[in-house]
Order: sequence, then structure tokens, then C-alpha cells
Amino acid sequence: MIVTTKKLFEAAYGKYAIGAYNINNMEQTMGLFRGCLDSQAPFIIQISKGARSYTHKLMLEGCIKSADEIFPDAIFAVHLDHGDEESCYDCIESGFYSSVMIDASHENFETNIAITKRVVDAAHAKGIVVEAELGQLGGVEEHVKVDEADAKLTNPKQAREFVERTGCDSLAVAIGTSHGAFKFSGSQSLHFDVLSQIQKELPGFPLVMHGSSSVPQEEVARINAAGGKLQGAKGVDANQFKRAAELGVTKINIDTDGRLVWTRVHREYFKEHPEGFDFRVPGKIFMSEYAKFIAAKNEKLGSAGQLSDVRAFLAG
Ligand code: G3H
Ligand code: 13P
Ligand code: ZN
Repeated sequence: MIVTTKKLFEAAYGKYAIGAYNINNMEQTMGLFRGCLDSQAPFIIQISKGARSYTHKLMLEGCIKSADEIFPDAIFAVHLDHGDEESCYDCIESGFYSSVMIDASHENFETNIAITKRVVDAAHAKGIVVEAELGQLGGVEEHVKVDEADAKLTNPKQAREFVERTGCDSLAVAIGTSHGAFKFSGSQSLHFDVLSQIQKELPGFPLVMHGSSSVPQEEVARINAAGGKLQGAKGVDANQFKRAAELGVTKINIDTDGRLVWTRVHREYFKEHPEGFDFRVPGKIFMSEYAKFIAAKNEKLGSAGQLSDVRAFLAG
């Protein structure tokens, strides 16, 4: 059942975070639904602009519609990840997405507000909710001076003004994470002090953490042992998710870790079976491994085991 992220956030706020997983193909879709039902967790499916154009934007919608029929107990939101204005309007018009992200975080404060407000007005007119972003994600390195580092993080006072003036439904905040497999090149970790200040400015308002893959070292080691070259890959400590959830983070974005599962499975399979060419064999292994990965991640997020409560919340 497709619901808005807003409903999921109301059920989760302050208690746990909902996993927001990027998908690009059928195998990820199957593994995601299986893993979330195995762990009895609500979830968010994210489709990036790149994912929409990987084959055809309707292809992933078709996969999700089919998965919704195959797994009728699943409760999830369908969300556009890092949209620009044009892709947001396209998803709003499509009638399929329950949530869009407008990412104008690279613009100056006033322009970000103006763009976000236009998207919010168009989305709300159709009952669709909007995530916006303030601050800039990026690895905050040890050698970067503190004032420079802080300049990239979300300003808590501005966050409040931004939300009031745009009417967005959730806010992606920059608190030290970065996208991809190479995070925290210094010893820097999450800035819980900044997150706590943002929560004080925006009590009860759902916050989003991008760039939250953990980049498990054992996964990286297996990929490298099977011919990969991912030296120095590093991610967010998943044991910090629950603390972030208590401070208002209700959505945690994970994409890179899923790509690592795919890479490990396929590298290992073809290294062990150089004669192999039936892609369904590693494909099946991947779906099962991805489901296990998702279920384990939902445990870390605290969303595992919440499905029946969310169902009751939505009904009542
Ligand atoms: O934040 C970006 C997501 O990981 C999506 O990546 O644009 O390569 O699909 P992508
Ligand atoms: P990762 O690269 O850490 O998985 O972050 C994904 C993300 O933020 C998608 O929007
Ligand atoms: Zn992101």
C-alpha cells in the first residue's frame, strides 16, 4: 500500500527512522520488498533522476506496482530523490509518487526558498508531500578549518525560517554526512550538536539524513578480494541511527550500501564461476542477499517490527 512519507513520519517521529532505499531495477525492488516484510518494517522507495532515465521512467513504476500486488502487506511511500523543478512537476503530474524531493540546496537561500515554495504549492494541490534541502552535504575533513566546515552544515536558525516560508513537509539537513562510498576522510563523524539545535528550532518537524550508507568494511574487503579496487571506502556508523532518530531524524537515505551488495555478489560469483553467463544465477543470489541486508538495516534504524503499529496508526 502506497502512503505519503508524511504519514510514516507521524508514526515514527522521535522513536525510529524509516529507511529510504534507492532502486534502479527489478532485482532491487524484489529484495527491498522481501527484506522489509521479513523485518516487518515500513519503508520509502526512492527513485533518483538517474534511475528514472536508466531505462524508462515508467519501467520502475511498473516494477513497484507489481511488487505492491505481490506483497500486499507492504506499507511504503514512493519518493523522487534529489529532484529539480522539472522532474518534481513531472512526478507530481504522474499521479504515482506520494512524495517528491526538491533539491535546490546549491542555490542561495532566497532562491532555494523561491524554488521550493513553487514545488510545495504544486505538490500540495495534489496531496503530495515535499522534502527540501538546506545546507550542503560533503565530507567534512580534518584539515578543513572549523569555520569552513560549519559553513557547509545546515544553519539551525535558517532552517526554521526556511520551513516557515516554504511550507515543506520535511527537511534534509547537512550534519556531516556525504554521498557515496568515501565519507569522513578525517575522523569527523555526525554533528549531533547541530542536529540537536535544529530540532530545538523545529520541534516535531521531520528531518532527513542523506548520505547515510555505512560502507561495511567486510563488504569492501570481499569486493576487493574478488578484484575490486575500493581503497579507503568508509561510511556512517549505523549504531548512531537511533540517536539521530531521537533528535528528529525520521528518514535515513541509503543507496551506496545496496550497490556494494550488488558488486560483492556479482564479483564473487563471476570470480568463482568464470565459465558462467546465466545472469539469473547471481541475480537470484543478489535478491536474497539484498533482502537480508535490508532487514538488518531496518533493525539498526529501529523500523523493524513497526509494521503492525503503522497499519493501526493509518487505520485509526
Ligand atoms: O543521492 C544520490 C543517490 O545515491 C542516487 O544516485 O543519482 O546515481 O541514482 P544516482
Ligand atoms: P549514500 O550514498 O550514503 O547511500 O546516500 C544515498 C542518498 O543520500 C540518496 O539520496
Ligand atoms: Zn541524497
